[in-house]
Amino acid sequence: MPDLNTNIHLDMFAAGKRKRSFAARLKKAIMVLRGKDDIYGLEWGDPETNPPLQYVRDHFLLPYISADKTVVEIGPGGGRWTRYMLSAKRIYAVDYHPEILNELKANITTTNIVPVTNSGDDFPSIPEGSIDFLFSFGTFVHLDLDIIDRYLKNIKPLLKAEGEVVIQYADFTKPLAQTNEGFSNNDPDKMRQLVKSHGYVIKEEDVKTMWHSSIIRFGRDHLVG
Ligand SMILES: C[S@@+](CC[C@H](N)C(=O)[O-])C[C@H]1O[C@@H](n2cnc3c(N)ncnc32)[C@H](O)[C@@H]1O
Repeated sequence: MPDLNTNIHLDMFAAGKRKRSFAARLKKAIMVLRGKDDIYGLEWGDPETNPPLQYVRDHFLLPYISADKTVVEIGPGGGRWTRYMLSAKRIYAVDYHPEILNELKANITTTNIVPVTNSGDDFPSIPEGSIDFLFSFGTFVHLDLDIIDRYLKNIKPLLKAEGEVVIQYADFTKPLAQTNEGFSNNDPDKMRQLVKSHGYVIKEEDVKTMWHSSIIRFGRDHLVG
């Protein structure tokens, strides 16, 4: 299972860059003509065109974004999901790899994005009680359970009372997770247990949309309806 020293993220980033350096120049021209960006991460599926990802965008992300919201994204990569958060008041883009945050900054230049390099499970400089919504897709699928546990502990103080969290995680009840070497050994039972152990209230579990992972939405505490 990947720990914080894993090279998989920088390897994926380098592979993505190589992939896009030659053939993708042509592809990029086509995509630009079609009015689309060629950003790191679209090789895993584009929420504009991939139906399960469209659903994730429309059901788990866009309803939580508006001009009065302060949001956190953990592991933004090249901004595949960040680009749907841009109407928020502020977006803290939290990533362990500064190289990848630089890629995000190159792709998205709006002034409401605050890049935060962290130590793999923490939120330096993000004020407690300030976050309306936290979203992470494509990142927790790679995190060992002890790191997820520490993240869940550290997310809680950040949230406003009505704050909501959406996390996609690896689901080893599904064969496509078991055969993915970079995935951590997680599943809905383990994730539910972890989330509950930190006193969160689970609002929604989606075990159907993705073929290798599942999604959980939860709130800070019992006051949240
Ligand atoms: C596979 S990419 C997914 C990027 C993006 N969320 C997407 O779906 O296109 C994983 C991202 O998580 C970041 N990452 C890996 N481990 C992390 C950790 N412990 N804390 C924060 N970010 C992490 C990587 O640097 C990378 O940006």
